[in-house]
Amino acid sequence: MNKKLFDMAVSASSNAYVPYSHFSVGAAVLFDSNKIYTGCNVENSSFGLTLCAERNAISTAIAAGEKGNIKAIAISSPNSKMCYPCGACLQWMSEFCSHDMEIILENENCEPVTFKLSEFLPYQFRKDRLI
Ligand code: THU
Repeated sequence: MNKKLFDMAVSASSNAYVPYSHFSVGAAVLFDSNKIYTGCNVENSSFGLTLCAERNAISTAIAAGEKGNIKAIAISSPNSKMCYPCGACLQWMSEFCSHDMEIILENENCEPVTFKLSEFLPYQFRKDRLI
């Protein structure tokens, strides 16, 4: 499954809209429903409005009616191995996973490397804090 998810992230990166950075990213997110949604980064002439691939994939899932929890996300860039997710995307992942989820990257040897969200974001601001 990790390989399939990673291949879908690679494929999604080919649709990236990156006229400014020329740095393409693709993401494929797997929910516990076993459905997979993909996204690419979409840049904007007002640079701060750029949408990352991970948040695009997650919002695509929500827009499709997905109500479950994220099990794993694969992230790929043709420009860089080990394309770590940014802090904003980690916070978005945290919103939609009830247990620790996997983050799958690809190393210099083209092997998938699996991390846990809690490794990147050990202390999470979650909705239960709002109650
Ligand atoms: N980018 C992502 O899509 N995901 C990340 O987690 C980090 C950065 C994109 C945003 C921008 O279009 C390009 O990579 C360079 O920052």
